[in-house]
Amino acid sequence: MTKRIFSGMQPTNRLQLGNYLGALRNWVKLQDEGDNQCLYGVMDLHAITNGHDPKALTEATRETAAAYIAAGVDPKRSYIMAQSSVSGHAELTWLLSSMTQMGKLERMTQFKDKAGKNAERASLGLFAYPVLMAADILLYKATHVPVGEDQKQHLELSRDVASVFNEKYAGGKEYFPMPEPYIMGTATRVMSLRDGTQKMSKSAESDMTRINLTDDADMIAKKFKKAKTDQGNVPASDKEGEGRPEAMNLIGIYAALSDTTSEQVMAEFGGQQFSALKTALSDLAVAQLSPITTRMSELMSDKAEIDNILKAGADKARELAAPTLDDVYKMMGFLR
Ligand code: TRP
Repeated sequence: MTKRIFSGMQPTNRLQLGNYLGALRNWVKLQDEGDNQCLYGVMDLHAITNGHDPKALTEATRETAAAYIAAGVDPKRSYIMAQSSVSGHAELTWLLSSMTQMGKLERMTQFKDKAGKNAERASLGLFAYPVLMAADILLYKATHVPVGEDQKQHLELSRDVASVFNEKYAGGKEYFPMPEPYIMGTATRVMSLRDGTQKMSKSAESDMTRINLTDDADMIAKKFKKAKTDQGNVPASDKEGEGRPEAMNLIGIYAALSDTTSEQVMAEFGGQQFSALKTALSDLAVAQLSPITTRMSELMSDKAEIDNILKAGADKARELAAPTLDDVYKMMGFLR
């Protein structure tokens, strides 16, 4: 069976190593595997739920698309589009919102985290965010959704909304397939370089916590050199690594970049000083990331080209989505 894969990232102009190792690299693998049909959206509608700057949004949308392509997503084989340019995402959100209970949205941990203490002031958009995500997935009847840990609860809600629709409007038939989370074997949870208990994040305050996909070789070397470690040497086993999140993070990053396992990395570097691991790590990161960085800046210097790629992707995506949207309206009793 052909898998239909949908995933996306919010546009940001600070994509970092975690986005590459945790998502982009796996998207490329999925594109190259079997006869998968892959759609990768730049989720710009999701990016406005917390207040945003219009100019920054435009640039970040282009930069994110450039990162997808530079990392190896091929716009000829996969769909790359901006979410907002396929209006079905927004339309389906409205239709699904009436079959989504507020109580379920209130339980979303990301909403609670992002709304913070002042939930009264959080936007309706932030609250409805998971419904938009369900619409993204269901609009294309995606069967598999590669997501990180932090999005699993949202995907669970998408499945829930899909079954409510199937029950209410499709007479219990599986009109929308249940989207499965796609957890990649090698997906890596990349942690902050300054605090091994926090995820590496594009929004963390200090730039030293992350490797950006736009950092040059010197910057990468500097950041790994300054990465936090502890008094000991490189652990040689999981047991030696217990309670040492910073050490295990560097080992994990090295393993991911070299496509090996942490065990193998520990066998190679265990017992040595951290400086040895750090030097090898920055060489490896530079070698892997610099072709991507270079390609990204080439793409960013020709904005019309990126805009064209996004337009073409949106045209194809609209075509794929149209029959589903039409079905849904009709099944719900709308005159079309
Ligand atoms: N919410 C996701 C994130 O922040 C991005 C996203 C939006 C997404 N819609 C999606 C991911 C649909 C997978 C499928 O990471």
